[in-house]
Amino acid sequence: MLEMNWSDKWRLGLHLMPPTGWLNDPNGLCQFQGVYHVFFQYSPDNPEGGSKCWGHYTSTDLLEWQYAGIALSPEDEFDRNGVYSGSALVSEGVMHLFYTGNVKLEGDYNYITDGRQSNTVLSSSEDGLNFDGKKCLMTNDDYPDHLTCHIRDPKVVTGKSIGIEDDNYYMFLGARTKDDRGEVLVYKSPDLESWEHTNILTGEKRFGYMWECPDAFMLGEKKILSVSPQGVETRGIDYQNVYQSGYFELDGSFDGEYRLKNFREWDRGFDFYAPQTFLDEQGRRLLIGWIGMPDDQEQCNPTVNDGWQNALTVPREVFLKDEKVMQYPAEELLSLRKEEQILEPGKTSDKMQYYDIEITMLEDTDLTLVISDGITLCYSRSDKMFTITFLQEQNLGYGRKSRAVYLDECRSVRILADTTCLEVYLNGGEEVFTTRFYTEDGMSSFRAEKGDMEIKYWVMEPMKVKL
Ligand code: FRU
Repeated sequence: MLEMNWSDKWRLGLHLMPPTGWLNDPNGLCQFQGVYHVFFQYSPDNPEGGSKCWGHYTSTDLLEWQYAGIALSPEDEFDRNGVYSGSALVSEGVMHLFYTGNVKLEGDYNYITDGRQSNTVLSSSEDGLNFDGKKCLMTNDDYPDHLTCHIRDPKVVTGKSIGIEDDNYYMFLGARTKDDRGEVLVYKSPDLESWEHTNILTGEKRFGYMWECPDAFMLGEKKILSVSPQGVETRGIDYQNVYQSGYFELDGSFDGEYRLKNFREWDRGFDFYAPQTFLDEQGRRLLIGWIGMPDDQEQCNPTVNDGWQNALTVPREVFLKDEKVMQYPAEELLSLRKEEQILEPGKTSDKMQYYDIEITMLEDTDLTLVISDGITLCYSRSDKMFTITFLQEQNLGYGRKSRAVYLDECRSVRILADTTCLEVYLNGGEEVFTTRFYTEDGMSSFRAEKGDMEIKYWVMEPMKVKL
């Protein structure tokens, strides 16, 4: 068993992190009887991963969190090598969790086209805390023949929430075909238990070999299919990470004729993958992503030496503005702000652990922001590009180098800065960059140069997390 180290200077104050060990995807996001539930892929005993269970945090206000222990662990035949990712569907006072039971047979297998079982499993709860009983709903025999064994991450929604006027539930499963194309399987069910395969969603052109962690929802009239594709080649400044995550707009029906268009990355930073969304009781669409990147040989996280790795983004509200899909930190986070401070351009702030910066450009000029003399965030008007760059001699990035996005205009920058994590929101959430960074003492300072701007910032109270 790993021990918690409370004096660890790199522990996060504004982000959920594993109590010990390894965390990856957010799972089962929902608000149930007023309480927010955030489950996550969890290997508590090993900061570099291992067999996965579902860890569990709850909160009534997105600010105070309670660690609720391990909700689901791999103790059945059909999930013996991992309780993999999945989702929650709340219906008639019951929380239903759907996940993939991962089984790896012993033998000489490649585990892509053979040797692996991907079982779709349901576990329900009436109080959101006790999950007794699991039901294996589908096995490899229930998936189409043209697929490999990589089929996983069920997302279950009501038909009505995705523009289908019937009383069925719909399940989306990420899949890899035998000829290495990523796609999403659509199943439907009247009762959450018997599922019928009805559609396949994929691009006109091949886009990677596997689509993980699908999600489907509507924003206004727009139908959104979110996926985390693997095997997409880097193209210019796009698709720079080992694996991507982003969304298509879907023309047509999730359960009929359709066309996927305009794939956009959710986040342009170094550390973002496998996001999921849910509708909360106020009707907000909230997104949480994994701050991490699997299989990355170039960048690493030195927190491994302190017995933990990775985190979750803050809950981000997803909304449409002028037809654009935007993301912005849930407004609850504003209440962690202490008093407002103003910084003159060119001056350096004090060192802080947790803080929130809002820069408003008063004129359309270039901008350079520097964090702890080791990271620059620049907007160039002539290139119409916003870039985040780690200065290699300072080594705050542990292998991270540079990421960029095209942006017609840079009007504002908001940065949520945690001990070892930055979330950068441009123009009220038009583009977002998430990255880890490591100063020696988990404190950082910032200054902004160039440009006519107003710089406000707030030291933040950390969230309260009871373990
Ligand atoms: C995405 C993912 C999922 C899988 C889970 C296993 O990061 O690979 O597809 O269910 O992680 O931990």
